[in-house]
Amino acid sequence: MTLDQSLSGTDLAALAERDPQRPRFHFTSPGGWLNDPNGMSHWNGRHHLFYQYNPYAPVHHRIHWGHATSTDLVHWTDEPVALTPGDEGPDADGCWSGVLVDDGGVPTLVYSGRHGERELPCVATGSPDLNTWAKDPANPVIAAPPAGLDVTAFRDHCVWREGDRWRQLIGSGVRGQGGVALLYESADLREWSYVGPLLSGDASDGRPGDVLWTGTMWECVDLFRVEGTDALVFSAWDDGVTHHPLYWTGRYEGDAFTPTALHRLDYGQRYFYAPQSTRDAAGRRIMFGWLQEGRPEQACVAAGWSGVMSLPRLVTLGADGGLHQQPVPEVAALRRDHQRPDVTPAPGGTWTPVPGAGGDQFDLELTVRLEPGASLLLSVRETPDRSERTVLELTRAEDPSAPATMLLHRERSSLDPTADTEPRYGEVPLQPDGRIDLRVLADHSALETFANGRPLTSRIYPTRSDALGIAVAAGAGAHIDAFDAWRMADIWSAPRPLWP
Ligand code: FRU
Repeated sequence: MTLDQSLSGTDLAALAERDPQRPRFHFTSPGGWLNDPNGMSHWNGRHHLFYQYNPYAPVHHRIHWGHATSTDLVHWTDEPVALTPGDEGPDADGCWSGVLVDDGGVPTLVYSGRHGERELPCVATGSPDLNTWAKDPANPVIAAPPAGLDVTAFRDHCVWREGDRWRQLIGSGVRGQGGVALLYESADLREWSYVGPLLSGDASDGRPGDVLWTGTMWECVDLFRVEGTDALVFSAWDDGVTHHPLYWTGRYEGDAFTPTALHRLDYGQRYFYAPQSTRDAAGRRIMFGWLQEGRPEQACVAAGWSGVMSLPRLVTLGADGGLHQQPVPEVAALRRDHQRPDVTPAPGGTWTPVPGAGGDQFDLELTVRLEPGASLLLSVRETPDRSERTVLELTRAEDPSAPATMLLHRERSSLDPTADTEPRYGEVPLQPDGRIDLRVLADHSALETFANGRPLTSRIYPTRSDALGIAVAAGAGAHIDAFDAWRMADIWSAPRPLWP
């Protein structure tokens, strides 16, 4: 769709509202396109979520910054669009990803201006309510990538205060070498000096299909400390084919990050992409990511919207030294109609329906215990004839010291042959008694699962309105010690204008 063909704003939002695939308790844009979370911050008691937004059409083009606020991280109020691409100048082709910092009381955005193929850092300052933004006339504040570096890209920002100066990471890649996080420093957020690469990847360490490949460019770098461990999160990118979020744990000290281990951030790969995190007033590390679509662009254009924001996640340190993620406790405020179905899986791995639970908008909490060699399957969004279903399989290896695996089967998630149905998998560290705490949140086409704090996020597009059932199947040695289910309430109560 070209811009000329785009629907009027009201039509687009109304069209989006009618789509049965549209989530009702995850944040979405009012209509049009959404990608990365940006400028996440907690300011005067309100949480601010900005995001990459095209209000004209559900395609990635001339990106604005959308803006929403919340007091509980769950219910959101749409605020006026924060940044609009300039008629000319460094952000004429888009205001790409960035962050919000508190510059001595002045809310200040650092974002990537896009003009043609050029990507350069820009700054804007905000009114106290964060609703009106003035771009700095001196933009771009860095005129070019570091001299002598042949970079594949130069965008996305992580900015923090350290002593009496600002430090900033910019995501990049060096041609022929791999992704890199470039470190800069400034006294005033306007004049920056290049310090050097904080950490460089080696693209020859893997290939596009490898789940731990660090890619040729690092998008959306994010550095933070959790319980004494430093994490450098980035979205590994290669030519629009590879996209997956990874992180290094290690130590940030001086001008370098010394890595100890590389991890997958979310086993859903591109379905939890370009995350950004912030520390809230209570000191918690909160992270959001972008759930990309798994249906073709034409389907999104017909639906009037594209892109879902993950639920806010609380990030802590896991017992095995990796990050532990779970939805923030505030999400539980949306729970309704608590059910505790009596789930006794039939012997021999036969599918057993779970009565009273299910729907297209729910939250499940299961306590599962697996003996070595045992596996448990949980099917959601299944039709009575089982022609559509999405199955999560947890398996424990025969070796009692090995982690379990989680596998999300999407081959039958949708009868629509254009929907992506590639499976996803990952490892789950077991608790000492072989327990897995499993959380499954389904919201129309959005599906977030957490097994012992390891997330696997995905998109599913059941076509049938009776794809509402839940069933389990368990082999010998798999136990369901608890099963709690809730319907989840909508977070929106009124129609949403595209331009609030
Ligand atoms: C990640 C990303 C960023 C960029 C933005 C553009 O999804 O490609 O690198 O700043 O999206 O919308």
